[in-house]
This record gives sequence, C-alpha cells and structure tokens, in this order.
Amino acid sequence: MKTYTGQSLREMYLGFFKDRGHKVIPSASLIPENDPTVLFTTAGMHPLVPYLLGEKHPAGKRLCDVQKCVRTGDIDDVGDERHCTFFEMLGNWSLGDYFKEEMIPWSYEFLTGEKYLGIPADKIAVTVFGGDDTLPRDDEAAALWEKAGIKKENIYFMPRENNWWGPAGLTGPCGTDTEMFVIRKPKCSPTCNPDCNCGAFLEIWNDVFMRFNKQADGSFTELSQKNVDTGMGLERALCVLNGKSSVYETDIFENAIKVIAELTGKNYNDDEETTKSFRVLLDHCRTATFMLGDEKGIVPSNTDQGYILRRIIRRAVRYGRKINLPEGSLSKISEAFIEYYKDVYPELNINREKIAEELAKEEGKFTKTLQQGLKEFEKCIGGIERKNAFMSQQNPDYVPETVIGGKQAFRLYDTYGFPVEITDEMAKERGFTVDIDGYKAAFEEHQNKSKAGSEQKFACGLADHKEATTALHTATHLLHAALKKVCSPDVNQKGSNITEERLRFDFNLPQPMTAEQIKAVEDMVNEVIKADIPVVMKEISLDEAKAEGFTGLFESKYGEVVKTYTIGDFSKEICGGPHVESTGKLGKFKIQKEQSCGSGLRRIKAVLE
Ligand code: ALA
Repeated sequence: MKTYTGQSLREMYLGFFKDRGHKVIPSASLIPENDPTVLFTTAGMHPLVPYLLGEKHPAGKRLCDVQKCVRTGDIDDVGDERHCTFFEMLGNWSLGDYFKEEMIPWSYEFLTGEKYLGIPADKIAVTVFGGDDTLPRDDEAAALWEKAGIKKENIYFMPRENNWWGPAGLTGPCGTDTEMFVIRKPKCSPTCNPDCNCGAFLEIWNDVFMRFNKQADGSFTELSQKNVDTGMGLERALCVLNGKSSVYETDIFENAIKVIAELTGKNYNDDEETTKSFRVLLDHCRTATFMLGDEKGIVPSNTDQGYILRRIIRRAVRYGRKINLPEGSLSKISEAFIEYYKDVYPELNINREKIAEELAKEEGKFTKTLQQGLKEFEKCIGGIERKNAFMSQQNPDYVPETVIGGKQAFRLYDTYGFPVEITDEMAKERGFTVDIDGYKAAFEEHQNKSKAGSEQKFACGLADHKEATTALHTATHLLHAALKKVCSPDVNQKGSNITEERLRFDFNLPQPMTAEQIKAVEDMVNEVIKADIPVVMKEISLDEAKAEGFTGLFESKYGEVVKTYTIGDFSKEICGGPHVESTGKLGKFKIQKEQSCGSGLRRIKAVLE
C-alpha cells in the first residue's frame, strides 16, 4: 500500500488536473467575500459562486485548487475519529465547459490509475441520484461509471438526501451529485449501502453536476451554464488511502501530537478520554491558527467570526485542562501547524507573531476566569442535584430537574467568559442541558436592545441578498478610493466583509480618523453616487493593471489575466466583481462606525440608506 502525505496528495491531485487543461488557483480567504449567509468558507466552490453563476473567471473555464474550509456545525463531534472544524478541500471545476462525460472517466482514472491513487476498481462503490418527482434518475452517470469499469453491483441509486449538493449558503448553485467510496470491508448486511455507517464504505470524493440556482424563495432555476464542482476532503482522503482509522493519524498532526505529549507528559493513545482531549486540542488549535493567520485576519470577539474563534480557543483551553496542559501552550501547538503548513499557506508564516500573541491573550483571559467559572458551574449543578435528591425522597414520582437556567448560563458567559455552547457541553457531560432560549432572552435583555421589527431589510431598499451585497461591494470600492484621497494615499484594504445590511472595511491608518475626515469621506462617496458614473469592467494582464495604477493584490491571485473595475477617474481596482452598472444605484452612503481593529488598523462599518 502506498503511503500519502498531505503534500503528496495535494500535488498528485493538482498535477492530474493541470495535465487536463486546468489552471491551479490559490486558496481564497476563510472569510467569504460576498456571502452574508455564512460566516466561513465551507467548500471549494464557495469562493467561485459568481463564476458558477456565469461571471467569467479570469483564469478560464477549467480550474482546480486546494481550498481552506471551516465547518463548525459538528463541533461537538470533534474528538471522534473523523470530525474536524478546519479541513482542506481538493477540488476541480468546469465553468460551463466539460460535464459528466469527461468528469466521471477522469474520476475513475484518478482513483484507479496506477500513476495515481491505484485503488482496485472492485474496491470502489459509487452513488448516483436516484430520481424523484421533479428530476429523473441519473442513468447517464450510472452508465458512465459502468463503462469506466465500476461493477454494476457497486453502483447505488440513492435519494435526494444523499445525492444532491448545495447551495453553500441559503441561495446559489447546486445540483445532483455522484459520490465515490472506498470499500473497506464486507457489507454488514444484504441491505447495507454507502449510507450505512458500519464502516464498510468510506467516502472519498464527490462530483456535483451543477445545473440549478436556488432562489431566496426556495425555488430552483436552471443555470445558464452546466458546471462541474468536485470536492475531496484532504484529511479524510488521507485517512482512507493510508488505511488509518482516524484523520488524526496523518502526517498533518504528527508534530503537533508530539508537542502536546511533551507538554502534558501524556500519550495520544493512553485512554479514550485522553485521545479525545488530544484530538480536540489538535483540531481547535489548527482551526484557530488558520483563522488568526487568514489574510483577512480575524481576532476573538463577541460577534460573528470572532465569536466562533473565541469559542474554539476557549473550548481548547477547557480540554487542555483535562490533560494538565500548562497555561501558555496553545501557541506552541499552533507553532507545529505553522511549520507544517508554511509553504502551502504562507499567510500563516507572515502572521506567525500575531497568531501566537492572540492565542496567548485569549488563553490567558479565559484561564483567569476558568477556575472561578467552573466553581460557579458546580454550584449551579450542585444546587439542582441537592434539590432533586431531597424532592425524590419526599415524593417518589418527582421528575428531577435537569435544566440549567438561562440567567445562570448568561452569568457564566458575562462574568466568567463561558460561551453558552461550552456551558451546554459541560452540562451534557453531567446529564443536564441549558435553557438556551432563556439564555438568549437574558442576553437580549442585557443588550437592552429590542430586536422587534428587525425583519430583514436590505441595503437601500434593494430586492434581494445578491442585489444588496453587489451594491455594497461597489460602495466598498468608492470608500477605499475616498479614504486614499482624504486620509492618505498609503491607505490600503486589509479586509472586507459584506452582509446584506452593511459593509465592513478594514484598512491601515496609524491614528483614528477625525470627525471631519469621516464627513469628507461620506460626502465624497455620495457625490460620486449622485453623479451616476458607470462602473466599467475590463480584463487585462496583471502587468498592464499594475502599470495603469489599479489597486489590488498583486501577487498573481488569479493567474495572468485579471478583471479590473473602473469608476470614472475616481476608483480603479482589480477585483472579481460583481458590481452594479453605475453608481446611481447605490442610494445614500453613511458611515456608522470607525474604530480600531488591531495595531495600526482601522475598521469602518457603513450602510447604504
Ligand atoms: N461542493 C461539493 C462538496 O463540498 C463538491 O462536497
């Protein structure tokens, strides 16, 4: 059996598709550019949504990459053999170019070819869309698999729950898929199929045939082009290919495991509980490292991405405590990951200091209150347990209380920094739950802010998410240009995040903006809006763009040809789009907040009214 490392599999995958006319594009940021419906990039296709919907991609119609992804939906399962909150996804795309006829034979060749993964064909099973009221079953895909060399008995028609993928957020491209599995052992029963979790079938790859666009109202429209979107989770693929039982037994985690062992004097395999703590620490330190090291760098906070990051770091601290991890260790574990990844993701190396500092800061903060918080937690649970014991003695029919009140959970959060999810998890370990609704109510009360009437409002009255975010995206360009003119030509974009309600723009400036500067920037942007200037897109080479004074990231992000957007002589940026046709569509621009977001960095939140 061949042994794969993360790097050998990355290279083999990208090489295979490069040989078949694909351009390798770099991983995009973990923070989605224009999708307000999710906090993190969750799949390789996610940053490509505009192109799957029909925008032209500067690198062409055949792309492949390794994309960093975060999915935190299953965070409570981290600690088992296969769940990770961060993972890398190998993927390739056809943007209205090839379709099933090419993709299925390629998948077969990559999986079974001697030069590639070399898995025996009879050890591969596939699932294909089995059809329903709206779409026929995918006989074409099944026939292509059979023709390629997959045994008929290893081709399974499955329902929509299994063989439909997407969209990544609430709306967007999606379609039927065909999933590939390695057969690890005999079926557990005659009816066993790839959906069974007996371990006979392990998923390795997924080809999505994207023909539909899910609309905000839940309906589907046909896309103007037929796309292919594939995804192979690197960690799981390595685990399956190397015949391991856990994703943590790959070269990716090797050094970090050693670091934890040295720091705690324990071994990864000591016992089940220890293994779980090791895994949670490994996963969470890695995810935090990538979040902090991301080019759109985020830091722990109480909202959005920053809250998830905070929760992940604090959960790591809690699990570290179970195996006597000394304070100040998270950055040492993180260091092992930076070393491992630094050539593939140079941003980690660039942000090395920031990662260590932020981890130490957050770890320190939580460690300070952890002890007290745990005592408080014990008091809560102990109180209920004593009451239950007493009442049960009095009345044999008494139903014991098992819920921690929302107010108590809020106190643990507010005073001791326990994210409610952590309190909930600790409660579950003791057979309790948290009254989450009560917690939310206490939280809102505290915020002293009625959420009433916060029904969805889109920026400047536009009809849907897409229109609203597109308008705010154009407004972001105007803001960027105005800041350069008003504050300093050295101002540059350091981060951008757009929801349907507001834009957020991070930039470098050594001191806070003055009230006059804020007003001048607003006025300038509103003047350009009033003048209704066309937004002109032009595709030119990166060198030309540089020569013509376009701003943007000049390390060859998207290969040679780039898209540029010009707004009169006001703004010239390299950017993937999309944008409104002319600035008159934007409504009134208003800066709501200007604040610090790191040393030498400022953050503006602004809206279109
Ligand atoms: N987008 C598909 C997935 O994430 C390939 O599985």
